[in-house]
Amino acid sequence: MLGKKMESALNEQINKEMYSAYLYMSMSADSTNKGLKGFANWFMVQYHEEMLHAMKMFEYVERQGGKVQLKAIAEPPQTFESAMDMFQKTLKHEQFVTQCINDLLNLAVTEKDHASQAFLHWYVTEQIEEEENDNDIIAQLKMIGADTAGLFMLDKDMAARMLTVPSDFSKGVEAAMKAMGK
Ligand SMILES: [Fe+2]
Ligand SMILES: [Fe+2]
Repeated sequence: MLGKKMESALNEQINKEMYSAYLYMSMSADSTNKGLKGFANWFMVQYHEEMLHAMKMFEYVERQGGKVQLKAIAEPPQTFESAMDMFQKTLKHEQFVTQCINDLLNLAVTEKDHASQAFLHWYVTEQIEEEENDNDIIAQLKMIGADTAGLFMLDKDMAARMLTVPSDFSKGVEAAMKAMGK
């Protein structure tokens, strides 16, 4: 059974994951607008990853007998200066999310909520991967600098990113993860 404090904090985090999805959708749209179709693909895959983060938490709140409460999603920025600008903002946002996950875990410890602690460890691991991916791409963008041919090549690589997580949660997230062998 979820305590009220934990329930409300998890509902806030669902909103932040939804905002993340929205932010990456916006970056995908702006990438398309800039002729960077590979980046558009990368961000659309990231959008699905964020929907998984949100829906996994949604399901957890329900399974623990809590009530999901959806809040308004803030408007993301619509345009970005460059691919580098997008990834610097992505990294900054992910660092913020990592802090939010750490705060949630700290709350679960204070509340002696062991189930939520176990649940949140998945997100801790996930955030390591998220920041690592962003740092890798920023390093590549730094090497490329103003070289448009380099950016063209990286865009081709970004086009290869495939969705490796489920995107249909109508039968539940856990069921969808199991069906994909996760
Ligand atoms: Fe996330
Ligand atoms: Fe993320």
